[in-house]
Amino acid sequence: MIQEIHRLKKEKDAVILAHNYQIPPVQDLADFVGDSLELSRTAAKIDCTMVLFCGVDFMAETAAILSPRKDVVLPEPSARCPMAQMVTADQVREARELYPEASVVCYVNSTAEVKAESDICCTSANAISVVSSLPNRQVLMVPDENLARYVARHVDKEVIPWNGYCYVHDRFRPDDVLKARRLHPQAELLVHPECRPEVIDLADGVFSTSGMARHAKASRTSEFIIGTENGMLHRLKKEMPQKEFYPLSTDAICQNMKKTTVDKLLNSLRTGQPKVEVPEAIAVRARRAIEKMLAI
Ligand code: 13P
Ligand code: SF4
Repeated sequence: MIQEIHRLKKEKDAVILAHNYQIPPVQDLADFVGDSLELSRTAAKIDCTMVLFCGVDFMAETAAILSPRKDVVLPEPSARCPMAQMVTADQVREARELYPEASVVCYVNSTAEVKAESDICCTSANAISVVSSLPNRQVLMVPDENLARYVARHVDKEVIPWNGYCYVHDRFRPDDVLKARRLHPQAELLVHPECRPEVIDLADGVFSTSGMARHAKASRTSEFIIGTENGMLHRLKKEMPQKEFYPLSTDAICQNMKKTTVDKLLNSLRTGQPKVEVPEAIAVRARRAIEKMLAI
């Protein structure tokens, strides 16, 4: 199957992009593995006919919005981020009436329709820089409440959070930190900004998924407790075999990120399906919000 994937990739002029949470065999097959920001940047600049996106719906949609002339294929169409469904375009329009002075920042984990209603997009890697760059004093952030509360700690603005959350990160508790620290007293705790404030308070560092890899490489520390989805551990262990990485909780699994398999990938390469298409009327407005973010 792996040989056939390599052969078809050449024949179809395809590139495989995979998020850090994908299952190990999919990560190992990918041309590029990264966080949401890196994957959007890569999708915008790569030269190819087909992008096979191994991740969840909003990531493939973002790639399709940025590269309207490429075929963007999501091998498993039911791989959806539940948090992205926690705010609708109508709700953003209503919230704008409630907070007419506020800029609207949408986390990239949102639908294309919500991006189209927002002033600018952000990812976990750049949320603080994006919010700081805005002229308004008031900023409404959708849909992740924990990310908004994390950003609010670092900017001189009034950040109004929405009430969405990621069920994988929101499940970490201070008790998980106490247990992991007891088992690994020398380790640094790195967490994702989608974690609850009380977990962030106990962490040594807060990073996007790829930010964790960059930090661990640069750090003199050799042991880390990782407070994010556990697919991340594969990349960390592969890139730094001399260091130790432990999960903050063994339950931190995003079911949708695990739906993409090598056989689905092969099937998508063969058929060029299922394609992700965003209606141009929405894509034009969503692209504005994403490109503003990429400019920052
Ligand atoms: P990153 O952009 O940090 O990879 O996060 C994406 C995500 O879905 C986190 O749950
Ligand atoms: Fe969505 Fe959470 Fe899965 Fe990330 S880990 S894709 S935020 S459900």
